[in-house]
Parts: sequence; structure tokens; C-alpha cells
Amino acid sequence: MLDIHSHILPKMDDGAKSTEQSLELLRMSAKQGVTTMVSTSHFYADQESPEHFLRRRAHTFRKIEPELGSDTPSLLFGAEVLYFYGISRSKEVRDLAIEGTNLILIELPFHPWPENMIDDLLSFKYASGLDIVLAHIERYQDIQKKNIFRQIFEYDEFLIQCNAEAFLYHKSKKLAFKLYKEGKLDFIGSDCHSTERRPPKIAEAKKVFVKKFGEAAWEDFCRRSESILEEHKK
Ligand SMILES: [Fe+2]
Repeated sequence: MLDIHSHILPKMDDGAKSTEQSLELLRMSAKQGVTTMVSTSHFYADQESPEHFLRRRAHTFRKIEPELGSDTPSLLFGAEVLYFYGISRSKEVRDLAIEGTNLILIELPFHPWPENMIDDLLSFKYASGLDIVLAHIERYQDIQKKNIFRQIFEYDEFLIQCNAEAFLYHKSKKLAFKLYKEGKLDFIGSDCHSTERRPPKIAEAKKVFVKKFGEAAWEDFCRRSESILEEHKK
């Protein structure tokens, strides 16, 4: 299966702390059935330029590259871009799309969303030609007013990702199940950061999903996610 959200590069962000941990996360993921993993280190526009981020990412990847093999998933590189006001005017940020695709993973703020955020994101989408995947949608539901949170789905303009962990807690599970049943859930990501504190929990999420919808539905869901990625390849 595809894991579209992870922090596996060593010391690139608050994810893997060492090359060893990085490889351990990859091996753990492979054991849980992940065949393709997108590395999406945090990108904060107020801290560095996309160009600097890309240079750092390439440099960091070289540390684990020689150790990759049949026990690790194949890797694609992207970023988890924290929304910033004016994203629609930034040309450079487009380079942070998942490599070889026109998909970009965007994290929304963890405070009440600015009134013009959705318009800014839509302008970004149309100006850049990129499709936006909204990261871990379940994590915003308690922070936003219900009508604002709902707008994201009403627009039907964004692809939606839930974390594997969403399936493990009552309230977020309710949302994840609802989105899945409505055909609005596009991707599940591990958002794994470390082997101890935030390990990959794809297998646990699968268990919960399969218990509710069955193995065939899980297989279908995984295939659908993979084909969305394929359709967005350039
Ligand atoms: Fe993340």
C-alpha cells in the first residue's frame, strides 16, 4: 500500500533522529504492508526557502540511500507544507510537490483558520496546476468552528488524507469512517516520526478498518489511493 505522509529522513525535521531510526521506520512500514512511501518532511516558509529545503532533502537522502533494499518501501519525495498566507503567489513552493506528480501535501494551521485561507488555497491550486492533499484532516476538527471545517468538504476541491492514528480514537474514527463511506477519503498516511513516540500504525488502522468494512474494502481503498497517485504522475 501507499503511505503518502511520513517523516523518515534523518534529522530533516522533528522526525527520524538518526540514519538507524530512519531505516527502522522504513523496515517497520514495509512489514506493515507499505510498498511505496512518500517522505514529507515539514516545510515552513518562514524558516527556509524551498530551494534550501530541496538541497537539504537531497543531502539527507544520501545518508540512507546505500542502505535501502528489498526490506524497505520504494520512496518518493515531497514535503508537508504548512499553509502560509500568500501561498497562491509563491512560485517556488510548487517545487515541493511530490516528485514526478502534480500533488502537494499541505498542512493547515492549528489555530482558527484565516477567513481567506480557502480562497488562497484555491488560487494556489489553479495558478500552480497542482492538486492539494490536505494532511491529517481529523486533527483540525476540534479547533475549527463546525461550519468552517465543513467548508473544506463542501468545496470538493481538495484531496483528503487521514492519519492511520485517526482510526484508533473514537471521535477521529467517526470522521474517518464517515469520509470513507462518503467517498471523500483519498489517502491514509502514517505521519510516522519516530520508532517510539510516533511509530507507523498502518497495520493497526488496517485492523480497525477491516473489522468495520472487510478486507476487500481495504484492498479496494488501497488500490484507489495508488491510482489517484498514478493519475497525478506527469
Ligand atoms: Fe506530518
